[in-house]
Amino acid sequence: MLYSQTQIAETCQQLGAQLSKDYHGKKPLVICVLKGAILFMSDLVRQMDTDMEMDFMDVSSYGNATESSGAVKILKDLDISATDRDVLIVEDIIDTGRTLACLVDLLNHRHAKTVKICTLLDKPERREKKISPDYVGFKVPNEFVVGYGLDYQGLYRNLPYVGILKPEIYMQNQ
Ligand code: PRP
Ligand code: MN
Ligand code: MG
Repeated sequence: MLYSQTQIAETCQQLGAQLSKDYHGKKPLVICVLKGAILFMSDLVRQMDTDMEMDFMDVSSYGNATESSGAVKILKDLDISATDRDVLIVEDIIDTGRTLACLVDLLNHRHAKTVKICTLLDKPERREKKISPDYVGFKVPNEFVVGYGLDYQGLYRNLPYVGILKPEIYMQNQ
């Protein structure tokens, strides 16, 4: 196990306290990036003592590895307009940074007032795009992590902790 339920809960509390201060009186638009961020989002917002609106986006990476455009396809867009809003994007993990690079561009293009990122996990070793999160729970090593929203082929999102996937599990499918 990498991060226990208790460690995650403490981190949510600390981040929530900081965000409550930083967003006091701003009524942020808090965006959960489906599906990985749902567990973190639901715990984090319960620690934020501020008026807010929540919305959800679902995006997926375009095509395959040979395509290096880094573009993402919007599978579900926001219901609420981001224009003139203080937007906080909530993610489970930043890896290459492609997903967030696209989302930040999109939200700036729509004239959000501010765009900030809160991620539970940050894996800076894998970064391809220049994305630096404003709020980070844990910096993780370059390992395959699952649980607490993070999946491997759709599984393990429901684990209440974050763990490192055993290599024999993903080696089976290679
Ligand atoms: C994962 C993760 C982040 C993104 C990070 O989502 O939840 O959203 O990848 O990778 P990146 O920094 O290289 O873009 P995924 O696309 O697997 O969808 P999911 O959240 O539905 O699992
Ligand atoms: Mn995701
Ligand atoms: Mg995934």
